[in-house]
Formats: sequence, structure tokens, C-alpha cells
Amino acid sequence: MAPGKRRRLCVGLFVAITAAAVSFGLEAAGKQTRSETGTATDEAARPATARPRPIPEAGPLAEPKSLDQAGLPAEATRQAIPPDNPQTPDKIALGQKLFFDGRLSADGSVACSTCHDPARAFTDGKPTSMGIDGRLGQRNAPTVLNALYNQTQFWDGRVKTLEEQAALPIVNPTEMGQPSMDAAVARITAVKEYQQTFQEVFGRPPNSADLVRAIASYERTQGSFDSPFDHFIAGDQNAIDDSAKRGWELFNTQGGCNKCHALTEEKRDVTTFTDNDFHNIGIGIIRHNVVALARQAEQLINSGDAKAIDHAAIQTDMSALGRFLITKQEADIGAFKTPDLRNVLVTGPYFHDGSQETLWDVMDHYNKGDGLHNPYLDQDIQPLALTEQDIDDLVAFLASLTSTDYKEQGAKELARQRDISLTQRPQRDTARAFGPKPPRPEPPGP
Ligand code: HEC
Ligand code: HEC
Repeated sequence: MAPGKRRRLCVGLFVAITAAAVSFGLEAAGKQTRSETGTATDEAARPATARPRPIPEAGPLAEPKSLDQAGLPAEATRQAIPPDNPQTPDKIALGQKLFFDGRLSADGSVACSTCHDPARAFTDGKPTSMGIDGRLGQRNAPTVLNALYNQTQFWDGRVKTLEEQAALPIVNPTEMGQPSMDAAVARITAVKEYQQTFQEVFGRPPNSADLVRAIASYERTQGSFDSPFDHFIAGDQNAIDDSAKRGWELFNTQGGCNKCHALTEEKRDVTTFTDNDFHNIGIGIIRHNVVALARQAEQLINSGDAKAIDHAAIQTDMSALGRFLITKQEADIGAFKTPDLRNVLVTGPYFHDGSQETLWDVMDHYNKGDGLHNPYLDQDIQPLALTEQDIDDLVAFLASLTSTDYKEQGAKELARQRDISLTQRPQRDTARAFGPKPPRPEPPGP
């Protein structure tokens, strides 16, 4: 089907999407998430389970999205398209094909969609991602939905564009494992249909620059808005309930969430829920001796080798250093990109290391304001004194950011997370949440 036709079918598609979502079992996703005591490092140490997994196929949820969605920022969407890679229907269709094609990986078993599955809102539902041969990485797969608006890509922002981003997983040994981009291109060139399509779209045989251009073009069709919250902002008072409305209020006041999850602190910003900046909010910091790691990383950073830094971020303990791996600034130790919060309900588990299973756990983390053992913690992280009702309200607000495409899944996932939260709240520390801001230790000297 031609992408032009797809766009005209968009209204019909929403119906199909709802039907597909009903049959989607998020219970399975729940079983795959880490146990209470498990950590990313524990999992990495486990023998590789090289069970071949089927590559997620492009269903209705993979189709290019309509530009006519409540809340979609038209100007930002236009600006996200670089002049040297204009969107064309044929290029988008080629990019979509490549996104779901295991032949981009060394052994044919892993596609982009393995870790960015449209049926799971373009994530894999795992704490950290698994590439070829069952190799586990150190980081949680972010969604590709709305990645077109990111000012930088990856949790540490190590590249800027979607084109630069797409090349890295292909040659990362823990992800798609190709020895080089040339090897991936050779694999694609061996497929007659691809030879033809590249010729039609770009006027030349397959090559790595065009390959990543096509994939990026496809990703730029994945703007995902049209959530109950967008309808509320557009004026429909009944689009979200009172709890979500109180949550939105707390988000901008007592919760202080807008300090980072908004383009500007002053304004109630409803587009991407990120300041496009990096902060240490105390995730995974206690598990690692970050100072020793930072010393170890300096040599690597000095080499300026993008591929080597990508390897360090995905498969070594240096991953925990976050933005420091790119800037070498001490203040960036353990700092990660503020993620967009749209569709967050269906993109768990949470944080760069997938360490939290439910949105209640995320809220408990913020509520106690982590200060101990972490000299690099952001100044805006402090005890919030949120009550249980406040926490439920903030979760209700976050849930209201779920796009229509994922409405049914969102309802199931919210019920699943609520069930867990009723018996397990490992991050809850009420005494600290209502206590004073703990003193922050000084960073160690040079
Ligand atoms: C083995 C799992 C895996 C595969 C395969 C994979 N990714 Fe990812 N992807 C990840 C993880 C994990 C991250 C975060 C890594 C980091 O931040 O260091 C990521 C990050 C991204 C991001 C950045 C999003 C953001 O918000 O910063 C985009 C875009 C993306 N991947 C697209 C792709 C594309 C395109 C492909 C195929 C060429 C691909 N991925 C293949 C796991 C995977
Ligand atoms: C100091 C800046 C800052 C503040 C304040 C802040 N956040 Fe965050 N938020 C971040 C950063 C940075 C991350 C990613 C951290 C990581 O993974 O290490 C994040 C991650 C998250 C995530 C997980 C998203 C995902 O995809 O894994 C949620 C949910 C979230 N924040 C909600 C909130 C809420 C609700 C509040 C207010 C109570 C809040 N944040 C306050 C910076 C902030």
C-alpha cells in the first residue's frame, strides 16, 4: 500500500488500531520485567539465552501517523525535517521496510523493531534491551514515538540527528552486531528488491548515508499526540477526570516536575514535556563507584571515537556516567536526558536503566528526594511531601498523556501497575518524603 493511500485511510486506521489493541496482552510484558531484587548488572551476568525471538512485524500501529492530531505541534513537526532529507512517500515506505528487517543485523535475527516494537509503543518492555545472541545491554530502550522532536538522541544525547542515531545500533556488538556499515549495506544490496527501491528513491545503489536517511524519514512519521490530555487542553473539560486535573496542577507546583519536564520553567508547556537538558536525578548512582568510572572513562572520551563511546554506553559499567561520557564535565556525571513523558504509561519499565517497574515507584523516587551518596544530584531534586492522594493524582495525569492508539493498552497497563502498587512499593520512604532536604555531599576533589 502506498503511504499516500495510508494517510487517507487514517480515520479507518484508528478503528483498526483499537481492535488490535484489544488483543494485545500487556500481561506478557509484565512477566518480562525484572524481579524486585534484580538489577541490570545481574541480568547481564546471566548466561545468554540465545532463544531466537520472532522479529515484531509492522502492524497497523507501525503506519505513518496522521498530522491531524489534537496537540500535534505543526511548526515543530515541519522544522524537524532537515532540508537535506525531505519526506517523500516512497522514502518513508523504504525506511519502514528497513526498520522491520532483521537482515540489517549480523545474524539476521534482530531488527530495529525487536527493541522498538510498535505493539509496545515502540519499546521492548524490558528493563534493558537484548540484541543478537541474547546479549543484554545496560540501557532501557526509549520509544521512537515523538523522537523526531528530540534535540539530541540517546539517554546521554551523544548524537543529534535521527540519521546519525540509526547507524549506531547496526554496528553495536550488543545490538545488531554488524562489523561495519559497509557489511550492512552489502547485506541489503544482496536483496534485489532493495536494489530497485534505493534506485527509485535515491537514484543510486544502496549506501549507508541513504540507508539511514530512509530510516530517519520513517521515524519522522511517528508523531504521537491525540491523548485525553490534549483534548482537555483544547477545551474539553470532560476529557480527563478530576484526579488527572489535580495531577497536572501538582506537576506545575508542589511536584516541581515542570522544572525539567517543560521547555521553560515559567510556562505550562504541553508539547514535549522535556527541557532538552540533562540532569542527575539519582538513578542507579548508588550501585556504581562513579568517580573511579569517570577516571577510567577519560582516556576513552579523549579518543573522541563515536563508535567506542557508543560501545561504552551500551555494554560497560561506564554507562552509568551518562552525559559525562560526552562532555567530560564533572557536573554531568550520572546526568541523563529528560525524557518526553508522552505515552509514558505504555513505555515502562522506567528510567535509563529500566530500574523502576511502575509509575508509583517513579513517584516514590521523586517524593523522597534522593540526596545520599550523590554529590552530583540536581539541585531541584528534594523531598516533595506528596501524600498518597497526590501520588495517585500525578499518576492519573501521566496516564492521561497516552495517545488514542494505545488507549486500550494503557487501561490494562494502568490496572496492572495499580495492582502491583497495592502490595509492592519498594521505593516508598514516607519519613524522608516529609523530612528536610538532606545535606548534599561535596564532590570529591580531583
Ligand atoms: C537491541 C535493542 C535495540 C535495537 C536493535 C535498536 N535499538 Fe534503538 N535504542 C535501544 C536502546 C537501549 C536505546 C538507548 C541507548 C542509549 O541511550 O544509550 C536506543 C535508542 C534509540 C533512539 C533514541 C531515542 C531517544 O529518545 O533518545 C532511537 C531514535 C532509536 N533507538 C532508533 C533505532 C533504530 C532506527 C534502530 C535500527 C537501526 C534501533 N534503534 C535498533 C535499543 C535498540
Ligand atoms: C531535575 C529535573 C527533573 C525533575 C524536577 C523531574 N524530572 Fe522526571 N526525569 C528527569 C530525568 C533527567 C529523567 C531520566 C533520568 C534517568 O533515567 O536517569 C526523568 C525521568 C522521568 C520519568 C521516567 C520516564 C521514562 O521514560 O523512563 C518519569 C515518569 C518522570 N521523570 C516524571 C516526573 C515527574 C512526575 C516529576 C515531578 C514529580 C519529575 N519527573 C520531576 C528530570 C526531572
